[in-house]
Amino acid sequence: MSEQPTEPDLRPPADDAEAAQLLREGVIDLEGRMLDASNVTLVGAIRTGDLAAECIYKPVAGERPLWDFPDGTLAGREISAFLVSEATGWQVVPPTVLREGPFGPGMVQLWMDGDPEVDLAAFVRRDDPALRRMAVFDAVVNNADRKGGHIIPMPGGHVYGVDHGICFSVDPKLRTLLWRWAGKQLPAEAVEMLERLADDLRADLGEQLHEHLTRAEVRCTQRRVADLLRTGRHPEPNGEWPALPWPPF
Ligand SMILES: Nc1ncnc2c1ncn2[C@@H]1O[C@H](COP(=O)(O)OP(=O)(O)O)[C@@H](O)[C@H]1O
Ligand SMILES: [Mg+2]
Repeated sequence: MSEQPTEPDLRPPADDAEAAQLLREGVIDLEGRMLDASNVTLVGAIRTGDLAAECIYKPVAGERPLWDFPDGTLAGREISAFLVSEATGWQVVPPTVLREGPFGPGMVQLWMDGDPEVDLAAFVRRDDPALRRMAVFDAVVNNADRKGGHIIPMPGGHVYGVDHGICFSVDPKLRTLLWRWAGKQLPAEAVEMLERLADDLRADLGEQLHEHLTRAEVRCTQRRVADLLRTGRHPEPNGEWPALPWPPF
């Protein structure tokens, strides 16, 4: 009697180490393309022997050139944002890797199912500590695109940020919905984090970022951290660059 092949039990990754393993080694089965995206953004399933999840895959080959981000790749900027996020200890960015995919090298990121109960338009206006951390993170990476759809509130209160393809410009380009704390004193946890980050940027993190960003972009990241520590305050709109993303959601 022939036996039906049994599917091994697949489970979602239990921690960051498993997530990284799944993202690096998993087989990607593409399921669809985000149609409103300006670059090629694909969604799919990713699985190894025992782990499975949904992921987002942005092949470098699908990137539309941007005049104000001429160097490197958008995928490299996404990885850089993940590396900075990991260094903060705040896990703003979901696990992300750079790897070979069905359409060549690209960034692969774990898909995070946000809390469907949250009204995003109201949520982004809240004085929420996770959003405030995201605002500090965005100031560090110089995020030019923190719109509502790039903020994912999770069940349980954690908040993820996605779409970091246009971060790390050498020019001030912070464009975000999260201006509620502009000019306010940074919380103690942010100052502690920035002090650690300043050290990391002079050491391993700086070296890792150099693989994806120009020397000038890494230097400017160090400078933004130093400026935040010097002023001790959340940045304010500089008046030269549109401070709000359009469309906002
Ligand atoms: N890791 C993720 N988990 C959950 N949703 C995501 C993730 N990445 C992107 N999304 C959703 O998909 C949309 C499109 O992805 P995004 O990264 O913004 O692509 P694009 O660069 O094409 O704008 C986002 O606005 C967000 O709603
Ligand atoms: Mg987007």
